[in-house]
Amino acid sequence: MPTKQSLPGGDPAAFKQLTTTTAGEDLRNLRSDLEFLNRLETEINHRELADKPTTYGLPDLNREQRDDETQEQYIEHQNEELREFITRLYIPKDGRKVWIKLSPAMLDFIGDMFYGRQNQAILWKGRGTGGSLCTAILMWLCLIYKSKSFTLMAGSSEQAKQMYQYTKGLWDCFPEMARNMLAAEPLQTETRLVNGTLLKIISASEKQARGKHNAGFVVDESCQEGEGTDRMISAAMQGAMSEPDYMIVMLSTFHHPIGLFQEVWDFADERGFGRFKWDVYDSMQKCDAGLETATKDDPLALNYCQTQCSLTEKQSLFDEMGESVDWKWKGCNGRSRHSQGFLPRKNVLIAKKMNRGTNVFAVEFENERPNWMRPVYDIEWVERSFVEADFPPPGTKILEKSVGIDWGLEGQTAMILTALCDVPTGAPLDPTSASPILREPPYKRCVIVLETQFMTGKLCAEAIKVLWDWAERFGQDKFYVYGDASHPFNNLEVSNEGFDCRPVPFNKWKDFGIGNCIKYFTNPGRLYIRRSLTGFLEQLKRYRQNKQGKPVKKDDHGPDAFLCAMIHFRFEERFGGDLELTPEELGESGAINYNPNFEGMSAVGNLPYSTPMPPQTEIPAAKIGNVETKRTSGGQVVVI
Ligand SMILES: Nc1ncnc2c1ncn2[C@@H]1O[C@H](COP(=O)(O)OP(=O)(O)OP(=O)(O)O)[C@@H](O)[C@H]1O
Ligand SMILES: [Mg+2]
Repeated sequence: MPTKQSLPGGDPAAFKQLTTTTAGEDLRNLRSDLEFLNRLETEINHRELADKPTTYGLPDLNREQRDDETQEQYIEHQNEELREFITRLYIPKDGRKVWIKLSPAMLDFIGDMFYGRQNQAILWKGRGTGGSLCTAILMWLCLIYKSKSFTLMAGSSEQAKQMYQYTKGLWDCFPEMARNMLAAEPLQTETRLVNGTLLKIISASEKQARGKHNAGFVVDESCQEGEGTDRMISAAMQGAMSEPDYMIVMLSTFHHPIGLFQEVWDFADERGFGRFKWDVYDSMQKCDAGLETATKDDPLALNYCQTQCSLTEKQSLFDEMGESVDWKWKGCNGRSRHSQGFLPRKNVLIAKKMNRGTNVFAVEFENERPNWMRPVYDIEWVERSFVEADFPPPGTKILEKSVGIDWGLEGQTAMILTALCDVPTGAPLDPTSASPILREPPYKRCVIVLETQFMTGKLCAEAIKVLWDWAERFGQDKFYVYGDASHPFNNLEVSNEGFDCRPVPFNKWKDFGIGNCIKYFTNPGRLYIRRSLTGFLEQLKRYRQNKQGKPVKKDDHGPDAFLCAMIHFRFEERFGGDLELTPEELGESGAINYNPNFEGMSAVGNLPYSTPMPPQTEIPAAKIGNVETKRTSGGQVVVI
């Protein structure tokens, strides 16, 4: 594009030559040349204005430092201007406007990067605490105020879509600016401005990282397990570094203890990265729960936090020998009395409740560094589910049965039989009544692990014999088999026998399956395991996480078969009501901070909820009761 300096009229010698011409025709030419130049200049001025956010009523964020200002005062002024502006922005969500709140930690991050006080940042943020949105705001500001092009690498296509929606939402706040500055409607993969500035969104699985470099590079969810991904991120960062005036941002929750994210975090100074960090309490709304109990000596009502609120806990401190030597308060402990974020307290309480019994809340929400070799299922929770071998009592209704199988033709094959039951919990109200409701005892619904079977080096036929034995003892109807998908022929044989067999691809379902079992263990009264199943219980208690927080693949056949069986009984579907907060959990007063910006917001819709969701590949829905199997005298099965 021509600039003012390159106009033909900008050369005085050429201009003089033109004006000294005397012939009439030349004068006419001269006049039309001048008109052309004027039009060009107007067009250029217009374009320059069109490129300036201030033309559309946005603030001028680039004021120079004044002589009478110290560096600190100047930074304070810059951050204050940014805060003023950003908190007037909103993102559209489900037809509502979500006004942006900025915690001090968020403002530091955006301010340091936007004003170039740092050019490389690593941001360790809690799950659902606004990391992606803040980074989207930063990129958008750099696009419009600095014409800096960006490549954003997202951890998944879902994250990529979300980032696109955030930046698109920001453009929508200023329709006139969008009309003049954008070359075309923003696309999920690319937003192009008239002046050539570009935002490219790619996902980490793509090879595009090797394409043309932009001066800005952001990698969201950068703490990944795979070495391949780390290599790709490193290569893309190197690419950005070769550009003048580059900016790099890595952001993530810190859930894998080893890898590029950990390396950059631990050696941030050496690598020239600025460290930024915020957790769920930084992003919470200011919390007033229990504040009415404050006293002169306890103005923040910390006593309430420590005794009434589950977001504050005691944590034991251990010496090298593993002896508990001291304790400290852990979690919120009054921090959110001063918070300026957006998350309602209720959402944080729910997130903590959903992740009970695991270290997920501590690691992903409270920004604790992940550790390893913890049990996958906390020993106390497992032991709390134990019942004697004569459980359930007579009168129990067995509603559905689900068998999980972890096949191991060379090694161990594990089979676990679970059943959804209604267990009587007392005497009927009136045994002689005409009403069946009064004649029935009160029941409690739960899942019971009834039987287990471990076999080594046995053929599939042996497993099928066991299935028949269980089907005959506990009833053939509503009898489902969930087999490890890595042995398709065995699953096929089971299906050919007439069983409703659903293969479980572990690579997709394992995290979900474990999360599902954890919900059973952490919601007392919904899962029981017979104490007599000693082999299985030992494996369950020895089941550990490795350095990456993933289950160690050692003696895991029982736990794997168990999680397969339990997939049939997804906790949310069966006992979703248990996950609601009780008034006690909300706090005595039931006080939830109310933010008008979140009017009508559903707790779950905005929940920073990290329990793995069911994978995309659905295991077929239950064909309840429509296949009946019968064993003939010759051992064959007839499907009726
Ligand atoms: N600063 C904010 N002000 C108001 N609402 C916000 C803010 N940041 C985030 N939110 C709300 O929280 C939701 C999640 O935010 P975001 O995607 O930025 O979090 P995240 O930390 O990237 O989460 P995840 O860990 O899932 O990647 C947003 O869709 C928005 O509704
Ligand atoms: Mg995110």
